[in-house]
Amino acid sequence: MKRLQNKVALVTGAAQGIGAAIARELLCNGAVVFLSDIDHERGVETVNTLGKNSYYLKLDVRMERCWENALAAIKSSTGQLDILVNNAGVTGYHLPLGAQNPEEATLDSWLQVHQTNLTGTFLGCKYGIAAMKENKTHSAIINISSRSGIVGIPHAAAYASSKAAIRNHTKSVALYCAEKNYPITCNSIHPAAIRTPMWEQMLNPIEDPEVQLQRMAAQIPLKQFGTPRDVAYAAVYLASNEASYITGIELNIDGGILAGAAASPTSN
Ligand SMILES: NC(=O)c1ccc[n+]([C@@H]2O[C@H](COP(=O)([O-])OP(=O)(O)OC[C@H]3O[C@@H](n4cnc5c(N)ncnc54)[C@H](O)[C@@H]3O)[C@@H](O)[C@H]2O)c1
Repeated sequence: MKRLQNKVALVTGAAQGIGAAIARELLCNGAVVFLSDIDHERGVETVNTLGKNSYYLKLDVRMERCWENALAAIKSSTGQLDILVNNAGVTGYHLPLGAQNPEEATLDSWLQVHQTNLTGTFLGCKYGIAAMKENKTHSAIINISSRSGIVGIPHAAAYASSKAAIRNHTKSVALYCAEKNYPITCNSIHPAAIRTPMWEQMLNPIEDPEVQLQRMAAQIPLKQFGTPRDVAYAAVYLASNEASYITGIELNIDGGILAGAAASPTSN
């Protein structure tokens, strides 16, 4: 019997990158998986590559009506939801939103980034709780935060703020569900330096991307970028019944970045 047999999952922002990898691993472990995104063409392509037991749903995480429709569609087709991965996220570099530092960022760009990352996760948790609270077996909400939710990022300030808020909201949800005796755990995953299309937006367009990525990789303790699958394995674990006693934690998938600090003594 596969680890996630008889479970139904919804993954947001699953057309590409980490969300697509999480969807793939959940599927490989026996779950029925609904992938959702705002990039419908790519989302449908991804579902077509995954095949049996994967389905595409239109879901803009910023819109409450979209959550209502998506959850209603899942309930009417499978009758249940057991795993929700709030993965959809934007950096602020994805649109011409301008500088993302605390001095120059516009109010509009600040709100737009929070709308997707934080409001999207809030709505996901709200509708996820409603959909899963009557379940008879362990159910899981997994919020994709970031190392940027733990440390400051001067040139992605709204992104860092939104990810820090996701980290904290995860704990509120975890404790709320525990208090209510709902069978739902809620945990956050904190990736860093995972090679996905998101990084392409953040590189200097006039310098060779590979050179820039190698320079960054050299600063990571494990000396390489992670892969979307590294994050997906953690999501599978937190979604499984083996993790039913784990709630409110933050799990770093970062090649050791957050294990250290700057200006530490070096060996002689
Ligand atoms: N790649 C990394 O190094 C890294 C590090 C830390 C955290 N993360 C987080 O992991 C998650 C996935 O990142 P990724 O690197 O795969 O990014 P990505 O840009 O490759 O994929 C993000 C997906 O989210 C979708 N999306 C954007 N806005 C949406 C909305 N309003 N509703 C629904 N879907 C929407 C996009 O269309 C895209 O398919 C994000 O939350 C990101 O912040 C990534």
